[in-house]
Amino acid sequence: MTERKRLVAGNWKMNGLRADGRALARDVAARAREPHRCELLVCPPATLLETVGEALAGSDVALGGQDCHSEPKGAFTGCISAEMLRDAGCMYAIVGHSERRHTCGETDRDVRAKTLAAWRAGLVAIVCVGETRAEREAGRAETVVESQLLGSVPENATAGDLIVAYEPVWAIGTGLTPTMADVTEMHAAIRARIPAGARILYGGSVNPKNAAEILALNEVDGALVGGASLKAEDFWAIAYACR
Ligand code: 13P
Repeated sequence: MTERKRLVAGNWKMNGLRADGRALARDVAARAREPHRCELLVCPPATLLETVGEALAGSDVALGGQDCHSEPKGAFTGCISAEMLRDAGCMYAIVGHSERRHTCGETDRDVRAKTLAAWRAGLVAIVCVGETRAEREAGRAETVVESQLLGSVPENATAGDLIVAYEPVWAIGTGLTPTMADVTEMHAAIRARIPAGARILYGGSVNPKNAAEILALNEVDGALVGGASLKAEDFWAIAYACR
C-alpha cells in the first residue's frame, strides 16, 4: 500500500475580507517555500477564493471550498456548486462539517449527495464526521460516527477522492481535545469502514502546542484546522509538526 501523505488543511470558516485573506494566503505561501513534509490546503470563504487563489499561485498550497451544493447549477439562491468551486481553482471541498450539520440541518443524505457532486466536478471530498459531547458521554461516539460514515460516504469511494475528517463537535473551537487513545481508537474504527489508503484527518482545537502529539499518531493522516489556520505563523507551526 502506498504511504499516506499527511495533509494539513485550514478551514477559515466565515472569516476574512479581501485584504486580510490576501495577506494571510501570501504569508502561508511564503512559509510553504520552506521544506515541509505534508500537503497544505486552505479553504477560505467563497468570496475569497479568487483572491486567495491568486496569492497562492506558484506555491504548493492547494485551494478548497468549505461546502458545495449537490446540483451543478440552478435556482438555489445563495448556494455554490462543486463545478463553481472547481472553476475558481479548488481541488477539494469540505462537506458535512458539523457547523452545517447542526446549524443548517444537513443530514447524512445531503452530505452523501454533496460528496457525489464534489466527485462529479473532479474535487476530492473531505467528509466530516464527529459526535457531540452528549453522544460521547453516553458511550455512543463510535456508533454515531459509523452511522454518519454509512450515510454520508458513497459506496464507490476511493482513496484518491475521499478524505474523512474526524471532528468531535465538542472539541471544535473549545480548546478541548480527546485523549490520544480516543483519537487512535476512533480513527481505527473509521479506517475499517473506508477504502484502504484513504486519509483520515483529525480536527478540533488543533494548535501549535498540541499538533506534534496529535500528528505523531500513526492513525492520524493530518489535521483540519479552524481558528489556528487564521494566523500564518500558527498554521505553519502545525504543518511543521508533521515530522
Ligand atoms: P477549531 O480548530 O477552531 O477548533 O475548528 C476545527 C474545525 O471545525 C475545522 O473544520
